Amino acid sequence: MAFPFTPASVLEEHWGYLSAGARLDAYERALREVVPPGGVVLDLGSGTGILGWLALRAGAGRVVAVDGSAMAGVARRLFAANGAADRVRVVEGWSREIDLPREFDAVVCDQLNPFALGAGLFESLRDAKERFLRPGGALLPRRVRWEVAPVEDAETWERVALWGGAARGYALGAISRNARGARFCREVKPGSLLGRPAVAAESPLGDGGTGKAAGTAVLEVDRPGTLHFLAGWFRAELSDSVEVTTSPLEGTRVDHRLQVLLPAGGPVAVAPGDRVRASLRIDAVDEQLAWTVDVLAPGASEPRHRAALSDFEAALVEPADLRRLAPDHRPLLSPRGRATLRALALCAEGATTASLRESLAAEFPGVFRTPREAQEAVQEILERFTER
Ligand SMILES: C[S@@+](CC[C@H](N)C(=O)[O-])C[C@H]1O[C@@H](n2cnc3c(N)ncnc32)[C@H](O)[C@@H]1O
Repeated sequence: MAFPFTPASVLEEHWGYLSAGARLDAYERALREVVPPGGVVLDLGSGTGILGWLALRAGAGRVVAVDGSAMAGVARRLFAANGAADRVRVVEGWSREIDLPREFDAVVCDQLNPFALGAGLFESLRDAKERFLRPGGALLPRRVRWEVAPVEDAETWERVALWGGAARGYALGAISRNARGARFCREVKPGSLLGRPAVAAESPLGDGGTGKAAGTAVLEVDRPGTLHFLAGWFRAELSDSVEVTTSPLEGTRVDHRLQVLLPAGGPVAVAPGDRVRASLRIDAVDEQLAWTVDVLAPGASEPRHRAALSDFEAALVEPADLRRLAPDHRPLLSPRGRATLRALALCAEGATTASLRESLAAEFPGVFRTPREAQEAVQEILERFTER
């Protein structure tokens, strides 16, 4: 039987959050700025509960800590062990699926991926602002800025260039177009920058925070080199005077989180005085990016290099995948889909987990080839579709 619980190795991720002094300092300072004495704070996506704890230290009277994962149990144990159980309520659930009163003076969270894409950040804070934050309350973070800089990184560029060549005579060029638009998560070394960064786009969180943003940054090249990528990171505003960032140039970098590298459309030799015009179109909810990179010589109005790239063009999409997206497409259940439908029907009829496993194994031998596979399917169904 497969192990049905969250492994303790998930604590490794939270070690990163807890050991990042600059991040904790920034959140604590911002909470001190925005939480009224005795106020009520929602720690959205609490993990260990550390941000809720900082809210208490900042003067909050009560905290509600919400986490949809097994970390809710961890937070409950830690708050109790720290003598805070009477001031903290821990709710296990995904914020958009639970109901809470609209009473919070502040909602704090840190669902910030390397380029502030995905992780439900925009959707969760929009929903929290609408349903949980009292009018005039504070969201932390409340605004995201996407910053870019021109970068020389021949080593990572090899991973793009390979696809234009061959491996042991096996020509790879047929898909080089996909590789040209593939982005990388990397630790960007400050020494690899060819010029200063600038903000290319920004978006509020909460009202109007759709996660869609677009804009252009003009970046001055300040040393000779080869442009391979745009490096990108976020700046997230927590309060009037506090932000967290993954900028590699800042001592207050939030923690171990990486930056992204967006290919610039081919290596381009650049010299001081050149300008790199970088335009971004971001859909942070769908984690989709489109970017153009123009390189202009000093005084020139027309670029001497231009590339327009996007995740969409780079995606490995087959015609059958596109057909499935057509509005008039009628989906047919796969054998696995039929098995899931049957399992859900059995759950609704009150079957035990043992009988679920036996029925799946007996009725769908082509899907579940061993008792263990049937057991794993049952566990997935328990986790995704049933009450605890
Ligand atoms: C990036 S960790 C941050 C944990 C903690 N807030 C901290 O700062 O150390 C995100 C946590 O939020 C949880 N989470 C993410 N989105 C959530 C949501 N919409 N509702 C509840 N929990 C969420 C995840 O399960 C995970 O434990």
